[in-house]
Amino acid sequence: MITIKIFTSPVELSRFAAEQFKEVTLAAVAQRGQFLAALAGGGTPQALYRLLAQSPYRETLPWDKMRFFWGDERCVPPENAESCYQQAYATWLAQVPVPPGNLHRAKGELDPALAAADYARQLKDMAEAGHSWPSFDFVLLGLGADGHTASLFPGSELTSGYATVAVTAHYQDRPANRVSMTPEVFNAARTVVFLASGPEKARALAITLTGRREPVKFPAQRIRPLNGDVWWLVDQSAASLLPDHIEGMTLQKQPDGLQ
Ligand code: 6PG
Repeated sequence: MITIKIFTSPVELSRFAAEQFKEVTLAAVAQRGQFLAALAGGGTPQALYRLLAQSPYRETLPWDKMRFFWGDERCVPPENAESCYQQAYATWLAQVPVPPGNLHRAKGELDPALAAADYARQLKDMAEAGHSWPSFDFVLLGLGADGHTASLFPGSELTSGYATVAVTAHYQDRPANRVSMTPEVFNAARTVVFLASGPEKARALAITLTGRREPVKFPAQRIRPLNGDVWWLVDQSAASLLPDHIEGMTLQKQPDGLQ
């Protein structure tokens, strides 16, 4: 099931995402005793991370039962401001009582190939017997203006059977060497939530959702969970090129304040 929710502002978008994160967390812990998340880097999720560091989430989420991975990581040390881990840690995870052992970062300080191999091992350690990666309860993804997501960039090879991939890609002024989880891992998730805001995302969003299937050129099209739900939480400017109806998807325009 693919649901697109269009918000009047990034603030409303982030408020909805925080409530959705809480609901998925509480359901996962109730059903399976733990909650596994894969977080995104970049600027869009920062407002969500700030909200989740504050009341009521700080006091009400079962932090000791929550484990955090990252969908991708830039190959920089963890204390570097460009690190996806650091971007979530500084804004959010350092402010809440999540046990340090529940943070599973890709080791950006390593050579990309070594970091990718190490992260694949960390994913296998979290997987059920006979599997190479876990089914994440909540995967958070962004969308680049070029259509990339995580560190799956346009023109990159379609992977098959791997958990992680070492990447060199140039996007804005961000570190080029990266490690990414692959679509195989994202597609094993129960819930995938894309966040996209700003007019610079409008073309990539419209092509990803309504264009011809060209997953090599538009990597976000590779994300199609086998048994999971996909949510696109977008603001009006990012949604400005979307039609009023998209076959096979639920499209909801979300007025401010109404859930
Ligand atoms: C990263 C992210 C990347 C991000 C998009 C959107 O490492 O940069 O994983 O996929 O989500 O580039 O970034 P913004 O939210 O900053 O637009």
